[in-house]
Amino acid sequence: MCSADVRAQYEAYPYPERKPTDERKRLVTGSPSLPVEMDHWLWGGARDWSQPLRVLVAGGGTGDALIQLAQLLTDAGRPYDITYLDLSQASRQIAEKRAKVRKLDGITFVTGSLLDAASYGPFDYIDCCGVLHHLPDPQAGFDALAAALAPNGGMGIMVYAPHGRSGVYALQNAFGRLFEGLEPRQRLKRAKAVYKALPDAHPFKRNVRVVDHEQGDAGFYDLLLHSQDRPFSITELSNALERAGLELAGTPEPMLYDPTPLVGDCGAMPMLERMQLAEDLRGTFKTHVVYARHAGGGLAPPMGAPDAVPHLRGVDAEMLAAHVAKMGNIAIDTAGSAFSFDVTPDAATVLRRVDGRACLAEIGAGVEAFDDVWAQVEAALCGAGMMHYSRILL
Ligand SMILES: C[S@@+](CC[C@H](N)C(=O)[O-])C[C@H]1O[C@@H](n2cnc3c(N)ncnc32)[C@H](O)[C@@H]1O
Repeated sequence: MCSADVRAQYEAYPYPERKPTDERKRLVTGSPSLPVEMDHWLWGGARDWSQPLRVLVAGGGTGDALIQLAQLLTDAGRPYDITYLDLSQASRQIAEKRAKVRKLDGITFVTGSLLDAASYGPFDYIDCCGVLHHLPDPQAGFDALAAALAPNGGMGIMVYAPHGRSGVYALQNAFGRLFEGLEPRQRLKRAKAVYKALPDAHPFKRNVRVVDHEQGDAGFYDLLLHSQDRPFSITELSNALERAGLELAGTPEPMLYDPTPLVGDCGAMPMLERMQLAEDLRGTFKTHVVYARHAGGGLAPPMGAPDAVPHLRGVDAEMLAAHVAKMGNIAIDTAGSAFSFDVTPDAATVLRRVDGRACLAEIGAGVEAFDDVWAQVEAALCGAGMMHYSRILL
């Protein structure tokens, strides 16, 4: 189910705003749904990629996750079969055009509700990004996706988080009351006029980390005029997963969910409480991106395992190695929080050997106390989502 307002919104303003011809210039990438990151969190870095990956992109919008997955799997020469599912015809048309510009095949486009996901499955992987918090009954969405997931399958989910969206819900409430009954284009015009008159002290105007309203009409509408939008704390998200028979497998930047840099040792505090503490203390999370799987299933990332194959993300191995050799640390600035990890000079040697093909046994050959050196590298880079394990290129 979906409210008439939500459907009308995404027909009028497909989200996010994308021009299919831009596919000739750039690939939009991000978490979740990067194959290497999925493998790391869901399949112990050991998925057999010669087997086709059956994927559902649930609420696929204008196609970011669809295009990312299809293109990266095509580039890696790995087989896939992707079902794109969304209520909005206008969004689907844009996603289809993007796939066409890139000459991507292996995609089935479906206009329909994710509540019927099981009838298209089962799937090895489900992407559901920015959708579940827009359902009238989000739990029904979690349950429907769980029912569509194969026994060893996994999901990448993004839902909104409350603290980093301060000011958003006050404006959604006000605009919702003011513009009830108007069609989307009138709402947008009127809301933009009122927005200009808001005082600079409004919590939303003070919230410099939320910028979607500056990214075109679809961005403004999705952020401030949505009629169905509820954020989840990490505890609420974990509870929703649990009720659907799922469990949290990991988060792309686990160091952000660790409160110890802020408060010191947390003793025996359970993991979810620690994560909630970090969310409350940091106060900046706009979203939660998590990987999930059926409860009790799945494999942990293969930290330090000799046959594990590391990949770097978003950083050049040579540049990082040069920095490490000069400074003796790995410095990371992520989501407004800065971290620095001391590492030994040998870390530069091993980082130069990370190419997505060499396993740890090969990377460590001839390096004294490799396990210790590597543990430092792992703590910094895996913690920041800058390194993952996968055998996808072998
Ligand atoms: C905020 S957009 C996110 C699009 C895309 N997942 C992304 O992250 O770029 C939400 C999308 O979910 C779709 N949607 C909302 N409710 C849905 C439902 N019950 N079943 C399928 N799609 C739905 C909307 O049409 C819209 O395209």
